[in-house]
Amino acid sequence: LLKTRRPIIAIDGPAGSGKTTVTPKVAEILGLLYLDTGAMYRAVTWLALDKKILINDEAAIAELVSQCTIRLEKPEILANNTPSLRVWINDQDVTTAIRSPNVTAYVSAIAAQKAVRATLVEQQRTYGRNGGVVMDGRDIGTYVFPDAELKIFLTASVQERARRRQIDLKEKGQGDFSLEQLEADIYERDKKDSSRAIAPLRQASDAIEINTDHLAIDTVIDQIVSLYREKIGISLTTDDVSP
Ligand code: CDP
Ligand code: CDP
Repeated sequence: LLKTRRPIIAIDGPAGSGKTTVTPKVAEILGLLYLDTGAMYRAVTWLALDKKILINDEAAIAELVSQCTIRLEKPEILANNTPSLRVWINDQDVTTAIRSPNVTAYVSAIAAQKAVRATLVEQQRTYGRNGGVVMDGRDIGTYVFPDAELKIFLTASVQERARRRQIDLKEKGQGDFSLEQLEADIYERDKKDSSRAIAPLRQASDAIEINTDHLAIDTVIDQIVSLYREKIGISLTTDDVSP
C-alpha cells in the first residue's frame, strides 16, 4: 500500500513572469488542485488597507491575519486563457480589488512579516498535504514544499514584465501607467521579495528555469505539462495499481 501523497508542482518566480496565467491551466490539464498563494498575501494586504491599519504595525497585522478567513474558488479558464480566480476574505469578494495598484504597492511589505508568513504558509501546507496540487508563489519550492516533485522557476526580463503589466492594467481599466514607472515598481518589488529575511524569492537549486521572454503562454503551459509527465509518469502508474 502506498502511503505517499500525490505529487506537487511548485511554480515560483518574480512579478509578471506568468505564474497566475499559466498555473491554473496546468492544473486543469493535469487534473490537479490549484492554489495562488500570491492572492492570499494580496487579500491580507487589502484587508489591512481597508481597515486603515498601518503597514508597519506588525502586531495589529498579526492579529488581523490570525482572525481572517480567506477563500479561493477553483478558477474558470476563459477562452483567451485568462483565468478568473474568485477570492474572498471574511466573506467579502475581493477578486478585483486585490489586483489594484494600491495593494500591489504594499503587498511586499506585508508579505515580509513573520506572523503573516507563518499563518499563510501553514494554510498552504494544509491545503497541499495530500498532494495533487500545483501552487504558485515565491517560496513554494524553497520553503512551503521543498520536497515538491517538480519545481519550475519562471523568469522574464524586467522590460517584458513591465510591458505585460501595462497591457494587463489597461485592459482591466485599472489605469494607464508608463513603462518607466512599471519597470521601477517591478524592480522595487523584486528587490523587496528577494532580500527579505524570511523565505525570500529565489530559485530552488533543483528548480527548472523557464525564461518566458519570447514564449507564448500556451508554450509555457505545454513545457510544464511535458516536464510533469516525464517526471511523474512512473509514480502515477504505481498509484494506479495500488489496491
Ligand atoms: O502576480 P504578481 O507576481 O504581481 O504577484 P503575486 O504572485 O500576486 O504576489 C504578490 C506579492 O505577494 C509578492 O510580490 C510577494 O511579496 C508576496 N508573495 C510572497 O511573499 N510569497 C508567495 N508565496 C507569494 C506571494
Ligand atoms: O502571476 P505573475 O505576476 O507571475 O504573472 P501573470 O499575472 O500571470 O502575467 C502577467 C501578464 O503577462 C498577463 O497579462 C499574461 O497574459 C502575460 N503573459 C504573457 O504575455 N506571456 C507569457 N508567456 C506569460 C504571461
